[in-house]
Amino acid sequence: MSENTYPSVNDLTLEEKASLTSGGDAWHLQGVESKGIPGYMITDGPHGLRKSLAVDTGSTDLNDSVPATCFPPAAGLSSSWNPELTHKVGEAMAEECIQEKVAVILGPGVNIKRNPLGGRCFEYWSEDPLLAGHEAAGLVEGVQSKGVGTSLKHFAVNNQETDRLRVDARVPQRALREIYFPAFEYIVKKAQPWTIMCSYNRINGVHSSQNHWLLTDVLRGEWGYQGIVMSDWGAAHDRVASLNAGLNLEMPPSFTDDKIVYAARDGRIAPEQLDRMAQGMIDLIDKTRAAMSIDGYRFDVDAHDEVAHQAAIESMVLLKNDDAVLPLAHDAKVAVIGEFARTPRYQGGGSSHITPTKMTGFLDTLAARGIDATFAPGFTLDLEDQDPALTAEAVEAAKGADVVLMFLGLPEAAESEGFDRENIDMPAKQIDLLKAVAAENTNVVVVLSNGSVVSVAPWAENAKGILESWLLGQAGGPALADVIFGEVSPSGKLAQSIPLNILDDPSMLNWPGEEGHVDYGEGVFVGYRYYDTYGKAVDYPFGFGLSYASFAISDVTVGKTGANTASVTATVTNTSDVDGAEVVQVYVAPGKADVARPVHELKGFAKVFLTAGESKTVTIDLDERAFAYWSEKFNDWHVEAGEYGIEVGTSSRDIAATVTVELDGDGKAMPLDEWSTFAEWKSDEIGSGIVEQMKAKGAAGELPQLPDNDMMNMFLDSMPINSLTTLLGEPGKAVTAFLLDEYGKAVAEV
Ligand code: BGC
Repeated sequence: MSENTYPSVNDLTLEEKASLTSGGDAWHLQGVESKGIPGYMITDGPHGLRKSLAVDTGSTDLNDSVPATCFPPAAGLSSSWNPELTHKVGEAMAEECIQEKVAVILGPGVNIKRNPLGGRCFEYWSEDPLLAGHEAAGLVEGVQSKGVGTSLKHFAVNNQETDRLRVDARVPQRALREIYFPAFEYIVKKAQPWTIMCSYNRINGVHSSQNHWLLTDVLRGEWGYQGIVMSDWGAAHDRVASLNAGLNLEMPPSFTDDKIVYAARDGRIAPEQLDRMAQGMIDLIDKTRAAMSIDGYRFDVDAHDEVAHQAAIESMVLLKNDDAVLPLAHDAKVAVIGEFARTPRYQGGGSSHITPTKMTGFLDTLAARGIDATFAPGFTLDLEDQDPALTAEAVEAAKGADVVLMFLGLPEAAESEGFDRENIDMPAKQIDLLKAVAAENTNVVVVLSNGSVVSVAPWAENAKGILESWLLGQAGGPALADVIFGEVSPSGKLAQSIPLNILDDPSMLNWPGEEGHVDYGEGVFVGYRYYDTYGKAVDYPFGFGLSYASFAISDVTVGKTGANTASVTATVTNTSDVDGAEVVQVYVAPGKADVARPVHELKGFAKVFLTAGESKTVTIDLDERAFAYWSEKFNDWHVEAGEYGIEVGTSSRDIAATVTVELDGDGKAMPLDEWSTFAEWKSDEIGSGIVEQMKAKGAAGELPQLPDNDMMNMFLDSMPINSLTTLLGEPGKAVTAFLLDEYGKAVAEV
């Protein structure tokens, strides 16, 4: 609870405190006007402002909102690997909030893309928590630097839409700590989002909205979170339980403030807990008060459109560019095929849907830039069968063109919040069209529009170039033209692996669950952590992306900066005659470990912009966490002593250099007891000495002697010392007793 806010929770009646813990309506906090506490507006997010007009007009249409800049959703922005860019997007979004008097924008969403079929993958950042955390932190800091709040969501483990309101996600503790929490944890520690939104689902049996361990022990206790937690819309089912668990605010209101009052009166809610939760709400209002007091502010529509344009440029990933088919010469004879070139798919569906301030498709951009192109729509954006006339028209358009740009992708109805996809296939009619066009003209470049991964392998041979443009927001058209005609080199890198087949995905065995629960059986082996560890072929690996420039990484050095920390330096050189950007990626490869660890994990990255021929040296620091795993044995992070490979490269499968570093380890050890195996005794600092003493006594005839040959040692190593009678009969007890006695004495001396 902060001390210097006005008014304080101490100035409020019980009823007023209770009222602060619920919204005023679907998009407003509940103020206490008489005490100077306003009921500010809070609304979606996350890739621009969705301020519903419903409040004024009574409309229930999710898409009926005030115009706002539509930035690329996280599906695109995540491929930028550029937190400075996300910071700029955040600043712009905050300015729009100030104009519209919105105190908190509901985003970003940093849930892990556990499976590409997840309906909200377009709104989430990555299959990798470090990448998700670093990119989204830029956005949070950008928004909050202007005095507007963010709502980091959905805490935690919203990785599917199927049964999302109630599904019980059964996740091993280690996977929570290593995969599903770190993006939240990093952002909380680095940027202190002013609000966090809990998820709908249950985690290991308990709804997030009433999960004390999640909202209080971990979030506030372990990570030091200072802000408030609100429910996702309709996720609070038992206000008393939620408030006790650490949920400050239910949204939207259930008009049950009296329940909180009664519970506070009869002791089911402790007075301090209600005070804490209500004070959090006052603190939030105080933080946003300055920005919300600015009247008459107008954001610069063109400047924000330009931010969206730059963001879109960095969101594209060039997957294939045979014969340097891209970039196109300005005077090339171009055929453009595909309805998406005229009617862009630029954002996802559901609560994040924005009404853009402007909209410039690719065809509009060509026209505006005076570039001549033949156009054929090729297909319709509905789920109807192909119209042969459209195919014939497209093939005709492709005839004699120097290059055919084919705009393919997923229509809006194919992916959205609210449901998961059933496969990652491209619509069959588009593949058929591609084949028909490629039979006429082999110089085909496919430009993809999709929120989550689509499979590429089944049709890739029909295209010389493939540009994955995800969803690019409102300025996608100009951004595409810039990249396609070489005004700028593509620099995006995949934030998500592209599998050859969705059935290769490690979570498929447990997707999307059954009978109300879903088991996260793959544990920490999500995405490339699985593909790379188990040697599975993928179509395009995590971190991959081509450029028109070429780069070389050299002079990789790793220096220890502490017992379990290191610093990596690498030089990256643009070896071409065009400007571009490369992302230097650092993966840590644990050596031999006590638990099953991924063969390597992303632990740092740096995006480097280089003019033709230029070199730069980057430094990436690795903290202790970069080497740690979550030990269920210690219920804590653990760094084992030993060798770790530091891999520096440009994707998870393009490693330019590996340097080994030897770490001291954190020295954590479990106390030994009768259930510890011989191997554990032998590897323990104290235990190993006692085992030696025991052997010496055996040799001297003072204790029974243990058999000593390879086969028996193998048995012994896996045997708890209380099982020695199995091998030695009754005399074995003396050995066990000796070990335990001596250990007890040694520990007492330490
Ligand atoms: C979504 C949230 C969103 C909220 C308000 C919920 O259904 O899960 O992401 O912020 O609605 O629109």
